[in-house]
Amino acid sequence: MDHIPVLLKECIDGLNIKPDGIYIDGTLGRAGHSAEIVRRLGKGRLICIDKDTSAIDEAGIILSDYIEKTTFVQGDFRDIGAILDSARVDKADGMLFDLGVSSPQLDDAARGFSYMADSPLDMRMDTSASLSAFNIVNEWTENQLKRILYEYGEERYAPRIASLIVLKRANKKIESTLELVDIIRSAMPAKALREKQHPAKRSFQAIRIAVNDELGAIEEMLAAAPDRLEHQGRLCVISFQSLEDKLVKTAIARREKGCKCPPDFPVCVCGFVPTMRSLTKKPITPSPAETEENPRSRSAKLRIGERI
Ligand SMILES: C[S@@+](CC[C@H](N)C(=O)[O-])C[C@H]1O[C@@H](n2cnc3c(N)ncnc32)[C@H](O)[C@@H]1O
Ligand SMILES: [Zn+2]
Repeated sequence: MDHIPVLLKECIDGLNIKPDGIYIDGTLGRAGHSAEIVRRLGKGRLICIDKDTSAIDEAGIILSDYIEKTTFVQGDFRDIGAILDSARVDKADGMLFDLGVSSPQLDDAARGFSYMADSPLDMRMDTSASLSAFNIVNEWTENQLKRILYEYGEERYAPRIASLIVLKRANKKIESTLELVDIIRSAMPAKALREKQHPAKRSFQAIRIAVNDELGAIEEMLAAAPDRLEHQGRLCVISFQSLEDKLVKTAIARREKGCKCPPDFPVCVCGFVPTMRSLTKKPITPSPAETEENPRSRSAKLRIGERI
């Protein structure tokens, strides 16, 4: 299935694109958002980043009419500062991060992201990275497994699943996605298996987040990105999971309301200087029409901060 860009119009509006501006798409994927950004550029420039070389290759074809305005970088958005330095860009007018996995990553069974297809346990977005799902499932301690299942997957059966993984792998290494799905299923009580959601969905999400250190990357990006935005430059982030959204929300709020003075002080004396303004008091979520057309968009939340 092709990747349908999520909250596309909302992101384009949020970026407030100027034809001669410099824009960053930190999660290129299949260029769903990038194509709409670059189309609106005159003298401007678009820098596209993705960890996944297949995203860079495929998006290169999709954006081939705009190649002279576009720079492709295979890299991690956590290195946004260094990436902009090497592209000789001091500040950008807008940045977009559409977090998580793309549909082509999920659909390519060999990548091991899907609990529906059998493949070696992998889940690396950057296929040159050293840590894969195989390492986590077979080598991390029961406690580490339990923690990621709880924290990144909000999986309430985390202790049962972690303990069964450790028991099973003592006999034989867990090699494939469907072996892992079987273990997860057998660890869950019958009533949990009757839920609408696939029983392995939360665990697979948790392992994927851990394999790719997704939260660590978001934190580093959020620490660096605002200082590389022009005055009134926009930071747009779409998250699909509550921990991600919390990181985005607090990063913007810290730069907006980091004043430490007691609330009854008439003026600020702590020296805090706001550097961002939130344009989304509540996150923007997809319309019913969008979730109908693209179920993957269901949990999406877009937050936008403006550099001041
Ligand atoms: C949801 S998809 C983006 C889809 C894209 N906006 C579109 O509409 O075609 C997320 C993409 O971000 C990439 N990605 C995730 N974390 C990354 C990171 N830390 N650095 C660079 N790319 C990352 C993934 O490889 C994936 O291709
Ligand atoms: Zn203050």
